[in-house]
Amino acid sequence: MAGNRTFTMIKPDAVAANNIGAITKMIEEAGFRIVAMKMTKLSAERAGQFYAVHKERPFYNDLCQYMSSGHIVAMILEKDNAIADFRKLIGATNPADAEEGTIRKLYATSIEANAVHGSDSDENAQIEGSFFFSDIEKF
Ligand code: TYD
Repeated sequence: MAGNRTFTMIKPDAVAANNIGAITKMIEEAGFRIVAMKMTKLSAERAGQFYAVHKERPFYNDLCQYMSSGHIVAMILEKDNAIADFRKLIGATNPADAEEGTIRKLYATSIEANAVHGSDSDENAQIEGSFFFSDIEKF
């Protein structure tokens, strides 16, 4: 059903800081059900594919390096109003602007190393989920 799934990654900074458990707990306590989950590592090339929409932006190369610098945890999450509710839970892209109590406020260290990804539309949630999970992994 449209509108009830989103895609997230716990990014390399948060994985390296041993915050997988704390962040996953916040996600579950906010009412999201984890539909699919895997720990993996992106190559710089694959990170570039994931963030292809940003390829003309000045931060793109650094972002690809950073996103391939360590392990990430990819998840598909389910909840009513998943996209908007998850964006609210994670907070602003730059942790300096993120509201108190959001995941990025609590765990991000910079605008680049901002702890988590959250899809910005139903269409992108579908595309991003399929980037990491096959059909039989996301039923
Ligand atoms: P964006 O899609 O704008 O943010 P969000 O992750 O909140 O949807 O940007 C994607 C990622 O690119 C962002 O999470 C971190 C990185 N980024 C930078 O490193 N520098 C920047 O100035 C911006 C805008 C983003």
